[in-house]
Amino acid sequence: MENNKSKSPSSAKGTDKTKSIKKASMKSSQLMQLFEDGLKDIYWAENALLKAIPKMIKKATSEELNEALTSHLEETKEQISRLEKVFTLIEVKAKAEKCDAMEGLIKEASEIMESCEEGSMRDAGIISAAQKVEHYEIATYGTLRQFAETLNLTEVEKLLAITLQEEKEADLKLSDVAMDAINVEASEEAA
Ligand SMILES: [Fe+2]
Repeated sequence: MENNKSKSPSSAKGTDKTKSIKKASMKSSQLMQLFEDGLKDIYWAENALLKAIPKMIKKATSEELNEALTSHLEETKEQISRLEKVFTLIEVKAKAEKCDAMEGLIKEASEIMESCEEGSMRDAGIISAAQKVEHYEIATYGTLRQFAETLNLTEVEKLLAITLQEEKEADLKLSDVAMDAINVEASEEAA
């Protein structure tokens, strides 16, 4: 009798447990899908930047901006191969899926470059466009890193964290370039 009593609630618990395990695994497979979609999106975006950054370098006047963009171009190549490592780790074929947001940001950048005259104004335009790109990448890698952590993909999470840090530093570097340019202009005006 006692056995039966104790059996009944525990088997009910067992059913609940099975349900919650099923629910959790459904959630994690949906999260995995979101994660893969996000990776394909940023893979497209990074490859698009590989073509867009050289155009920005050509249009930049200040040496400092030129250097910042050139070093970020090198980082972008590294970031692409890091993403390919991530795809390998999760055993998914590396595939780029068009990122409408990045396409828009790159389009905006080329419009700014066309509409500004060569010199400090065009540099300011390039910096503002490049920082929008960086902020998009920071948001994306921040989310993907978090997803990887939730999915217990430790190695993947480490790789994404490296890229996230690079994007943050690239953004700070662009802010420094902008500040220096403003300071130079201000000192020229004062002279
Ligand atoms: Fe990037």
